[in-house]
Amino acid sequence: MSAEAVGKTAHVIVLGNEKGGSGKSTTAMHIVTALLKQAIPVAVLDLDGRQRSLSRYLENRQAYCTKHGVRLAMPVIWKTLKDHPETPQTDVAQFAEAFAEASAAADVVVIDCPGRDSTLSREAHWVADTLITPMNDSFVDLDLLATVDPDTFRVVRPSFYSELIWECRKKRQLRGRPPTDWVVLRTRLSHLEARNMRRVGAALDELSKRIGFRVMPGLSERVIFRELFLKGLTLMDLREAPDMRDSLSMSQVAARQELRELVNALNLPMLAAEAA
Ligand SMILES: Nc1ncnc2c1ncn2[C@@H]1O[C@H](COP(=O)(O)OP(=O)(O)OP(=O)(O)O)[C@@H](O)[C@H]1O
Ligand SMILES: [Mg+2]
Repeated sequence: MSAEAVGKTAHVIVLGNEKGGSGKSTTAMHIVTALLKQAIPVAVLDLDGRQRSLSRYLENRQAYCTKHGVRLAMPVIWKTLKDHPETPQTDVAQFAEAFAEASAAADVVVIDCPGRDSTLSREAHWVADTLITPMNDSFVDLDLLATVDPDTFRVVRPSFYSELIWECRKKRQLRGRPPTDWVVLRTRLSHLEARNMRRVGAALDELSKRIGFRVMPGLSERVIFRELFLKGLTLMDLREAPDMRDSLSMSQVAARQELRELVNALNLPMLAAEAA
C-alpha cells in the first residue's frame, strides 16, 4: 500500500527540522504523553534509526514501569525505521507500510524525523497534517528556513527546508489533501538575549507571512527536560511517578502549563471535538 492510500482518519503530527539538536525528539515525547494523558490513542514512528532518541525514550519508559511496578500510558505501537540511502525505493516502501499500520491503529500518528534530509523524512513531511519545526532563537537555526540580510536582518529568500515544505504542500494540493498546518516553535527563549530574540522574531514574522507558517513558543530551556529522558518520563507523568512525586516544583508546574498551552494551540481536531 502507498502512503497516499492511508492516513485519512488518523491525524499526523510530524516533528521536522534539518537542524540537529533543535528539540524535535524531546518535543515529540512531550506531545505524545500529553495526548495519551487525554486518553487519545497515539502511534509513534521514529525515523531516526541511527540515534533512536524517541525510541530510547519509550524503552526507558517501559523499563521504568517494570522497575517501579507502575502503569504509565504508552503509544499503541511504535516503530523505528532505518535508512537505506542506496535504495530510496526501499525507504518509500517501508515508510508506507509502517505509516499504514500506525494510521490504522491510532487517532494520532506522531512522526519524529532525523535532523537531516532523508527519503524517510521527505515521505513523512508530505503526509503531515501538522508539521512542527522546533528551532532555537538563533540566526544559525533560521538559516535553514531563510537567508537573512546581515545588515538589515530582513528576509532575502526562503532557503532549502522551506522549499522542501513548499514542494510537499504542492504534492498534497495535487492529491486533494488539506494544507499542512506548519508550526514553528521558538524554543529555549533566554531573556539574556533580548536583542537577538527580537531580531530573530522579526525575521520569523516576516517569513511566516511569506511562506505560511505559524510561530509559537516551544518548550523553554529547563534541566528537567534533559533529566527525565533516562527514566522515560515527561512533565505530564510526575504525579504518577513514585520517585518523582515530591519533586514537583513551581517551575515544573509552570512548564506543564506551557506544554498544555502548546498542545492546545496545535488545534488538533480530536481535542476540538472533545472540547465542544
Ligand atoms: N526544552 C529543553 N530544555 C533543556 N534541554 C533540552 C530541551 N529540549 C531539548 N533539550 C536537550 O537538547 C538536546 C537535543 O534535544 P533533542 O534530542 O530533543 O533534539 P532533536 O532535534 O531531536 O535532535 P536530532 O536532530 O539530533 O534528532 C538533548 O540533549 C535534549 O535533552
Ligand atoms: Mg531527535
